[in-house]
Amino acid sequence: MMLRKGIDVLLLWILSILHLQSSCEGYNPPDNYLIDCGSSSNTTVGDRVFIADNSAASKFLSTPEDVLAKSSSNAKGDSPLYQTARVFTGSTKYTFPATQKGRHWIRLYFSPFVYNSYNMSSATFSVSAQSFVLLNRFTATGVVVKEFSVNASSSSIVVTFNPSDNSFAFLNAIEVVSVPDELIQDDASVLPSGNYQGLLVQALETVHRVNMGGPTVSSANDTLWRTWVPDGNFLVQASLAKNVTKIGAVNYVSGGPTPNIAPSTVYGTLTEMNSASDPNSNFNVTWQFDVDSRFRYLVRFHFCDIVSSSLNQLLFNVYIGSSIVVSNLDLSTRTFNVLAAPYYLDLVTDVIDSTTLRVSIGPSTESGGYPNAILNGLEIMKMNNSDGSLSGDSSAVSSGSSSKSMVGVIVGSSVGGVMALAFIGVLLVCCQRRRKRFSGQGLSKTWIPISINGGTSLTMGSKYSNGTTASIASNLGYRIPFAAVQEATNNFDESWVIGIGGFGKVYRGELSDGTKVAAKRGNPKSQQGLAEFKTEIEMLSQFRHRHLVSLIGYCDERNEMILIYEYMENGTLKSHLYGSDLPNLSWKQRLEICIGAARGLHYLHTGYATAVIHRDVKSANILLDENLMAKVADFGLSKAGPELDQTHVSTAVKGSFGYLDPEYFRRQQLTEKSDVYSFGVVLFEVLCARPVIDPTLPREMVNLAEWAMKWQKKGQLDKIIDPTLAGMIRPDSLRKFAETAEKCLADFGVDRPAMGDVLWNLEYALQLQEAVLQGDPEDNSTNMIGELSPQVNNFSNVDASVSAVALEVEGGAVDDDLSGVSMSRVFSQLVKSEGR
Ligand SMILES: *[C@@H]1O[C@H](CO)[C@@H](O)[C@H](O)[C@H]1NC(C)=O
Ligand SMILES: *[C@@H]1O[C@H](CO)[C@@H](O)[C@H](O)[C@H]1NC(C)=O
Ligand SMILES: *[C@@H]1O[C@H](CO)[C@@H](O)[C@H](O)[C@H]1NC(C)=O
Ligand SMILES: *[C@@H]1O[C@H](CO)[C@@H](O)[C@H](O)[C@H]1NC(C)=O
Ligand SMILES: *[C@@H]1O[C@H](CO)[C@@H](O)[C@H](O)[C@H]1NC(C)=O
Ligand SMILES: *[C@@H]1O[C@H](CO)[C@@H](O)[C@H](O)[C@H]1NC(C)=O
Ligand SMILES: *[C@@H]1O[C@H](CO)[C@@H](O)[C@H](O)[C@H]1NC(C)=O
Repeated sequence: MMLRKGIDVLLLWILSILHLQSSCEGYNPPDNYLIDCGSSSNTTVGDRVFIADNSAASKFLSTPEDVLAKSSSNAKGDSPLYQTARVFTGSTKYTFPATQKGRHWIRLYFSPFVYNSYNMSSATFSVSAQSFVLLNRFTATGVVVKEFSVNASSSSIVVTFNPSDNSFAFLNAIEVVSVPDELIQDDASVLPSGNYQGLLVQALETVHRVNMGGPTVSSANDTLWRTWVPDGNFLVQASLAKNVTKIGAVNYVSGGPTPNIAPSTVYGTLTEMNSASDPNSNFNVTWQFDVDSRFRYLVRFHFCDIVSSSLNQLLFNVYIGSSIVVSNLDLSTRTFNVLAAPYYLDLVTDVIDSTTLRVSIGPSTESGGYPNAILNGLEIMKMNNSDGSLSGDSSAVSSGSSSKSMVGVIVGSSVGGVMALAFIGVLLVCCQRRRKRFSGQGLSKTWIPISINGGTSLTMGSKYSNGTTASIASNLGYRIPFAAVQEATNNFDESWVIGIGGFGKVYRGELSDGTKVAAKRGNPKSQQGLAEFKTEIEMLSQFRHRHLVSLIGYCDERNEMILIYEYMENGTLKSHLYGSDLPNLSWKQRLEICIGAARGLHYLHTGYATAVIHRDVKSANILLDENLMAKVADFGLSKAGPELDQTHVSTAVKGSFGYLDPEYFRRQQLTEKSDVYSFGVVLFEVLCARPVIDPTLPREMVNLAEWAMKWQKKGQLDKIIDPTLAGMIRPDSLRKFAETAEKCLADFGVDRPAMGDVLWNLEYALQLQEAVLQGDPEDNSTNMIGELSPQVNNFSNVDASVSAVALEVEGGAVDDDLSGVSMSRVFSQLVKSEGR
């Protein structure tokens, strides 16, 4: 009778809790067992009630002897859960019905005290759940909370306590609570080497859960009742780190991580480099964590860029030990171009013979901006070993040889196509949202008024008034005196001409402070030129990005129209592809150049309140600096996006022959997708190394876009690629690249990917290419055919005690429907078809 009643009451109570929680938008765990062991009264902790467990008839418990212990000292100020305990003198089981399969938390609370003859500080016992050993020969020396999670594969979760030898076991409280499926995903693809499968069946133990740059986040402030501790104690050198808090800035976006992944109190605080305003800062911020050796760990990095004022500002590296996890991480490209959107990165790493795990962040050398690096949160979860154990003790039995077999070291990266499609869906949504958010803030407001051809123009400061010290201290485009330009270009020496375009001649030059520049001198008579001149100054003054050529200054004295740019040592991309005797670019170099250019264009399209369309994307407008880093140049034709100014619909068709979007040609309607088309032509140009229009060739071959598409449709694009690349491109990489180019050339703009999507796919193509070199050092031959290298590497090749790296997952599934197809279904298909 009592029992029945108890169950009914419990059910009612669970239901009421469920109801309560749904009303405050938290997660409602289908299973939610909270027990205060040995207690005769219910105990409230935060908004949760741990139920009393003082009766031998406790539905869940099966123990040989009922020993309810109560602490005599309650002055401890500890959690009320610690005032009582149960002592288990023999093998004991808690059996909890699992109303829903899937992952469940198992949290065990221990706080030893002495009760009668039971001195709990000396109790030694083992705990297991399902088939996993959670604790082996465990002794709690102080207050200990252990958090595990296991996937309930049967209809119940059984937690078993086994006293060791002549000892006994004890427990103060236990939680068995459902975990939302989104938290740990299984089919987390590992690139470049395929899938890392089986995370779902792993038992995990949370060994560290840290809130970088912020205070403890208690279980009551976390939707899944997790506790996050501050990072101060883990910092190797605290003086190198700085805290930032901006909880209100956290911007959860649909498709990205939800507060269940980590709450805003975690994403809203971070630790960054304490660079003390030194723009040359170059150091890592490092944390060190104690771990058990000979285990595999799932390490989850949480990021949320609450420090940047605009997209693409931050570029940094992330390391585990001495291995790089991600280089040049640009969160903007991973968060659907939403600033301050949470993002997390999962990777699996093996700790072989070290008892510490170090995590570092540091600035990217490629970053053009102010050096910084951030981390908002970190979770380190131990994975069960091949014996099904999470306990260091038991694994000590299995020695060195087994540690070799437990390994799969994969340099990893993102879930390929997932993001690709996610981008198409979410970017649209986000762009719309962004436009709304920024509406009313058009280009006109930021127009920089300049008095063109004003002979008596004011100069920027007195710096140039004597025409001698033309130094470039500021980032802003300066008005530069004509005399200084004359001097810099050796009075427009014809032998210093490095290019001739529609606008005029381009001279190389050197300012008096030694800065190398390129000076583009316009034809003063052309009104068209004047408009373009203004556009270019306007655009380049607003858009600062490491993949856009920067404007150093301009000169409008004496009816001149001269633009002074940073000098790009290696000239145009075009000149490296054909028509010169420059050395051939490798496939990797070409990919990196395309990625850089795509980044620049992506920034133009999305980095500002209004999309800006370049309108003249071609290989001659992609310039290369001394390190072959690509920058997009020539903004003379740029236009703000169509939403903003309908008059552009009727703008005369401009652009370069061979690159021109046929839809734009037909409909005279300009969108970002016209740039995407032109960029697609550039991609084929890069692959085939021939002019986009070559009238000397047979008719069907004249137009590269048509010619390449013809072969691509036949699946034989490899027949027409640059012969110097033959045998150097991995088939996967080529396929990805060609598919991307093909999509860019879709007849209709709506069918073309967004630039961010193109960017992502190119990065993916690069990873596929790198896979061979990194994943399989022995096979660096030119045999590029064959399957991806196996997941399991030989550890003897790896000298670091910690070898990284595995999977990187975009958080959560995207809910948005794309033409009726569930995104999550598309996700899983992509994971299957592309991850492998
Ligand atoms: C514990 O809480 C449940 C539900 O709130 C209640 O039905 C039960 O009587 C309580 N038990 C004790 C011992 O107070
Ligand atoms: C639990 O594991 C089973 C395989 O044993 C898997 O099919 C299921 O999806 C997993 N569920 C979750 C939520 O982990
Ligand atoms: C309980 O055991 C611990 C560890 O073995 C020991 O340090 C402590 O003195 C013992 N306390 C009592 C009251 O026996
Ligand atoms: C950052 O904040 C945490 C928690 O508020 C604090 O413990 C730590 O000392 C702070 N670190 C720095 C470098 O200010
Ligand atoms: C945590 O929750 C408590 C109430 O449950 C609230 O008073 C406190 O401000 C919260 N802390 C943070 C950091 O949000
Ligand atoms: C940061 O740490 C990594 C890994 O140990 C190392 O390769 C890199 O040189 C470090 N960077 C700096 C600036 O110290
Ligand atoms: C963890 O246990 C699962 C299920 O028993 C097993 O499939 C998996 O291989 C184990 N993990 C490791 C790293 O051995």
